[in-house]
Amino acid sequence: MNRTLSDKYGPWGVVAGGSDGVGAAFAHAMAARGMNVVLVARRIPVLEAFADTVRARHGVEVRTLALDLSAPAAVAELARHTSDVEVGLFVYNAGGDDRSAAFLDKDLDTHLNLVNRNCTAVLEAAYRFGAPMVARGRGAMVLVTSGAAWAGGAALAAYGATKAFDLILAESLWAEWRGSGVDVLGLVLGRTDTPSMHRVLDASGEPLGELADPDDVAAVALDHLSDGPTWIWGANPTGGSPLGAMNRRDAVLAMSRGASQA
Ligand SMILES: NC(=O)c1ccc[n+]([C@@H]2O[C@H](COP(=O)([O-])OP(=O)(O)OC[C@H]3O[C@@H](n4cnc5c(N)ncnc54)[C@H](OP(=O)(O)O)[C@@H]3O)[C@@H](O)[C@H]2O)c1
Repeated sequence: MNRTLSDKYGPWGVVAGGSDGVGAAFAHAMAARGMNVVLVARRIPVLEAFADTVRARHGVEVRTLALDLSAPAAVAELARHTSDVEVGLFVYNAGGDDRSAAFLDKDLDTHLNLVNRNCTAVLEAAYRFGAPMVARGRGAMVLVTSGAAWAGGAALAAYGATKAFDLILAESLWAEWRGSGVDVLGLVLGRTDTPSMHRVLDASGEPLGELADPDDVAAVALDHLSDGPTWIWGANPTGGSPLGAMNRRDAVLAMSRGASQA
């Protein structure tokens, strides 16, 4: 078993949104590299069944915490639940938007919950879990974001805006914490084969097309934790926006043509 991850960063990892999709792949990959994991999600049966699988497959300790990360006290509760262990790696994964729709076709509360989960809770997690990492001089944080962060687009208003927040937060923390022993990675994903993405595509009637494998995504991210600020899934992982030097109007129109989560 490769134990370098826990040796380098600490014995425990947290995956916020860690019961299916990309988060489940992170949990397996972290446990396979010797880390005990704390898994957070809302649906208790899915969470507990997945935790049993991780325990059985990797022989590490697994804690579960059923929380809605869009609720105001969720991250404080997570910090309390993990205050007795050293969290060396924090992956903020939960962030998908199951329903791609025009801004005014969604309830205001739906938008606000998305902002709470994808912005407020991410910032709070970076603050609450980043501070002890910086104090110890070791740790790593992955904020999972999306190609929707590169520019605005129709049916992407709140989702894309929250993902841009996550990207800028990750890059800024990388700049502040580099040299402190704490690695920060903004992980920019494109379409990935997860239950959440299947729900989006089923609802829109779009064909599946080419989807990244979540296990590949998680493995590559863990291999490149020290290669921040940004890791972009695809052909040019440390390059800039694939929209390149396109002017903003053309970029927004291009984003609007693929009007679903990307
Ligand atoms: N899949 C893609 O094609 C794609 C593309 C670009 C970017 N991304 C990004 O990749 C990340 C992972 O995406 P994903 O497709 O795996 O789906 P996701 O819906 O972001 O994540 C699924 C996991 O998060 C949990 N979760 C969702 N909402 C939660 C909440 N409010 N509180 C607590 N846990 C919550 C789910 O469990 P429960 O439902 O039980 O809570 C599940 O464990 C996201 O940040 C997304 O923006 C994905």
